[in-house]
Amino acid sequence: MADNIYPVFDRIYDRKVKEEILRQSARVIWFTGLSGSGKTTLAANLEKELFFRRFFCQVLDGDNIRLGINNNLGFSGDDRLENIRRISEVSKLLINAGIITICSFISPTNKIREMAKNIIGRNNFIEIYLSTPLDVCEKRDTKGLYKRARSGEIKDFTGISAPFDVPACPDIEIDTSKYSVRESVDKIFATIIDRITL
Ligand code: ADX
Repeated sequence: MADNIYPVFDRIYDRKVKEEILRQSARVIWFTGLSGSGKTTLAANLEKELFFRRFFCQVLDGDNIRLGINNNLGFSGDDRLENIRRISEVSKLLINAGIITICSFISPTNKIREMAKNIIGRNNFIEIYLSTPLDVCEKRDTKGLYKRARSGEIKDFTGISAPFDVPACPDIEIDTSKYSVRESVDKIFATIIDRITL
């Protein structure tokens, strides 16, 4: 740690005050799963549901973040780690502002997710694993990326030529090929409601 940095904590309002104003407990709701597993769709629909119920939240999503703050990162193991490290630090800032933060990133390995949990804090972290099978994701191929990965045009593609570790004990697991968006959002909401209520 640098010895010339002096963070200010005691002169700014803390998380508790902000959570009281927003009448909620801030948490990070973290989606992990293959490309095409439904992360972006469920994150957007969960946000809609939470706003409808007067919770205040912010979605951070893979493709958006990679166009902005992380536009200098690719898909090597090191770059994915740095991608998630920055996102985790941003998420920590947002929950310290009292905001429920919905993260939607492949976050493919145990190591990467462990780092995210350590930065954000385990108590603040709700992990949702979308276990939609690879063949379903590949059939959906919403962005046409699986086809390009199979042809070798895209290297290090998660599930094809780069690893995805199945999470050991997520808070919620959903195979989106078996449930509708509505059913999935309902299941997530029922599981998180106690943890986001003040
Ligand atoms: S992560 O592995 O670092 O967590 P992230 O969620 O930010 O990935 O970005 C994944 C998105 O980038 C995918 O949804 C897909 O659109 C795009 N993408 C482009 N190249 C790759 C690749 N090699 N592997 C996975 N996703 C890729």
